[in-house]
Amino acid sequence: MSSTAVLGCMFGDEAKAKIVDVLANNSDFVVRFQGGSNAGHTIVSNGKKIVLHSVPSGILYDKTVCILGSGVVVDPFALNEEITQLEKQGINVSNRFFIDPRAHIVLPIHQELDSKSENDKRNRTKIGTTKKGIGPTYADKSARFGIRFSDLYNIDYLKERLTNLYFSHHLEISKEEIDKLVESLSEISKKFEPFKMQVPYFINEQYEKGADIIFEGAQGTLLDIDYGTFPFVTSSHTVSGSITIGCGISPKKIDRIVGVFKSYFSRVGEGPFPTELFDEIGNTIREQGHEFGSTTGRPRRCGWFDAIAAKYSAMINGVDEIALTLLDVLSGLKTIKICTAYIIDGKRTLEFPYDTNSLNNCVPEYIELPGWNEDITKIKKYDDLPKNAKNYIESIEELMDKKVSIVSVGPDRNQTIFRS
Ligand code: IMP
Repeated sequence: MSSTAVLGCMFGDEAKAKIVDVLANNSDFVVRFQGGSNAGHTIVSNGKKIVLHSVPSGILYDKTVCILGSGVVVDPFALNEEITQLEKQGINVSNRFFIDPRAHIVLPIHQELDSKSENDKRNRTKIGTTKKGIGPTYADKSARFGIRFSDLYNIDYLKERLTNLYFSHHLEISKEEIDKLVESLSEISKKFEPFKMQVPYFINEQYEKGADIIFEGAQGTLLDIDYGTFPFVTSSHTVSGSITIGCGISPKKIDRIVGVFKSYFSRVGEGPFPTELFDEIGNTIREQGHEFGSTTGRPRRCGWFDAIAAKYSAMINGVDEIALTLLDVLSGLKTIKICTAYIIDGKRTLEFPYDTNSLNNCVPEYIELPGWNEDITKIKKYDDLPKNAKNYIESIEELMDKKVSIVSVGPDRNQTIFRS
């Protein structure tokens, strides 16, 4: 029996999809348990780039079955488009892609509400969301006005629920508008009918049978609704605890937790970022790392590796081992810094603060390590990495008291170094 969780442990965009893709080679199932089409998962195989938003990253392997658990929010229109694009590229999803009927549906109203609140001048806390309607959908789920995937298969009930949903937002919708929306949803739901799956029964049974399962996280720990930099977070739980709720499996059945960390930090959207770089080095990292959002195209903010935030994240998730990605991006820097403490109001701390103000006011304390100039993108063995690159990795290991078991030195599958 074996299950592995692959989780982003920073502000998202840690290149989790690449790690899932590499590990999915040996996996029977890849299951997503939270988030929605706000995620942008980029995979490069043989030079070909594929960006996934809702479909799990195992879809590129013919034998891997991909599943969305109840904790995911599904935009049926966006998903339909994503599947059509995959099919055009020769990737067939039939009998290989399933959705829990409990999953909530993202509707146009949710995207409108998301955009409206982000654009409204009266809103003093702009989050910088992806405007994919994620927050309003999860809010409606908690408020019990949301629409579930299963509701698409009962037209009368769906109409009633939609009317109620609009009522809950104090919005008017005519019978004709409801009928039109239901009609377009019905068309998609016919196509999606074979995707319906009782995920908790299926996944538990498969685990007992000894299947190899990957739980694929979206976004990152520091965007978790509770443990992230609230309110500058996404609206779901992104941490390992969310797996059990988001697909109906016991925590006892998560055997291995791989924390994905970038070799530096990045963030897209608003919110505190203690080690953010505003200088040429930040620009160099952004350019070399192609740090532009895969969902929104926005430039990502870049900064030094923050061992305080990383340790906090590893603790909350129970990370067993680290996958360190984008190491190649740091090649050419004369020196590289790692944040090892925060100074807040004159006091030194090793704890990640719970409030945004402290994070905004904290002054990072750094250690400085020598960089390397060599191109490392073709290196296959750990021992062949430049001495200073190994020193950087081993410093992270020491600071975090965790093993770096995977090092990624480029976007392609084969640019991955496994350490025994
Ligand atoms: P939302 O998830 O669209 O509501 O956006 C909330 C915050 O999470 C914003 O700062 C987004 O930029 C960020 N976010 C959402 N999804 C991702 C992701 O997949 N990668 C990185 N940041 C994300």
